[in-house]
Amino acid sequence: MARKQNTAGSRQSPRFPQTRYQGSKRRFMDWIGGHLEQLEFDSALDAFGGSGVVSHWLKALGKRVVYNDLLGFNHQIGLALVENDEATLTEEDIADIISPAPGQVYDDFIQRNFGGIYYTDAENAWLDVVAQNLRRFGCRYKRALGYYALFQSALAKRPYNLFHRKNLYLRLADVRRGFGNKVTWDRPFQEHFRLHAQRANAAVFSNGQPCQAIQSDVANVQEQFGLVYIDTPYINARGVGVDYLGFYHFLEGLIRYADWPELVDWGSKHLRMQRTVSPWVSPDRIHQAFRDLLGKFADSILVVSYRSDGIPSAEELVGLVDEVKPRVEVHFHDRYRYALSTNKRSREMLIVGSGFR
Ligand SMILES: C[S@@+](CC[C@H](N)C(=O)[O-])C[C@H]1O[C@@H](n2cnc3c(N)ncnc32)[C@H](O)[C@@H]1O
Repeated sequence: MARKQNTAGSRQSPRFPQTRYQGSKRRFMDWIGGHLEQLEFDSALDAFGGSGVVSHWLKALGKRVVYNDLLGFNHQIGLALVENDEATLTEEDIADIISPAPGQVYDDFIQRNFGGIYYTDAENAWLDVVAQNLRRFGCRYKRALGYYALFQSALAKRPYNLFHRKNLYLRLADVRRGFGNKVTWDRPFQEHFRLHAQRANAAVFSNGQPCQAIQSDVANVQEQFGLVYIDTPYINARGVGVDYLGFYHFLEGLIRYADWPELVDWGSKHLRMQRTVSPWVSPDRIHQAFRDLLGKFADSILVVSYRSDGIPSAEELVGLVDEVKPRVEVHFHDRYRYALSTNKRSREMLIVGSGFR
């Protein structure tokens, strides 16, 4: 089948699917993209790729994009929607993924251990089957699309779209709710999966460039790029950082099914994974982490997304970019303020550093 092909610089390619990923820049993409379009570069690193929306947008602009993220489940998203140029899931593929294979014996790790935590017993049994079917799936891009659909389905059925608490009871309790969407929570996994598989299929395209998804601590990325886009986990003014593995450990478990028992913190009520401390969520290490990262990519155009009320402060971060780049522009997105933020000064901003020292 002829695939949608996008030529350099054209914006004809498919839009990125809706996502429930915390911190996704999807709603800011027209604004961020408007600034990226003004810059001259051929290759780009999306250093903290997350949902993949920025990489997908850069790919649509005709650039050679490398999507990077530390977490394995995000890597699958990058493979599915950035590196993948043409594979899509057929109806037959979907049927093979979401049903038990005849004669196959399945482990029941999720059903045995996660009862009453995130999903019902029947849903846990389905997740056991799908996680194991995907591990055996032949084509890595189709497998990645399958994981993408599984993650989006799993998020849609979670209160707050997270795995930070044992709170299945919120979904099941027969009470009036001021939040959430019981219809979405109760829709069967199979239906969610089909919907998200179709949305993922529709987002696949080629831009004629060899785009890539890698899984690395950003500190270990060796290659150099024309532009580096930086969107780190957010640390709020009280010093609390967004711990992505803490929020999404269950999705990481789905792709590391065979190793999951060794990764779990068995002492935690909601069976999260054992933590590793990262400089990107440590208020006392974050300034040095930014300094190292910006210095490492000082020969690239640097584009940093930031929330103005975090740690480091906006002024400190602009100062750090200014240390390595002669020209620094700061843009604010004025129409959007964070609804849940009590700090009225919380604004989305974009720092662009260019030129050479
Ligand atoms: C704010 S999110 C990025 C959101 C993304 N720009 C989007 O629009 O969806 C930060 C991401 O950084 C990743 N991350 C955290 N520490 C990292 C590290 N040391 N190296 C690479 N990625 C890291 C997290 O897994 C998370 O997906």
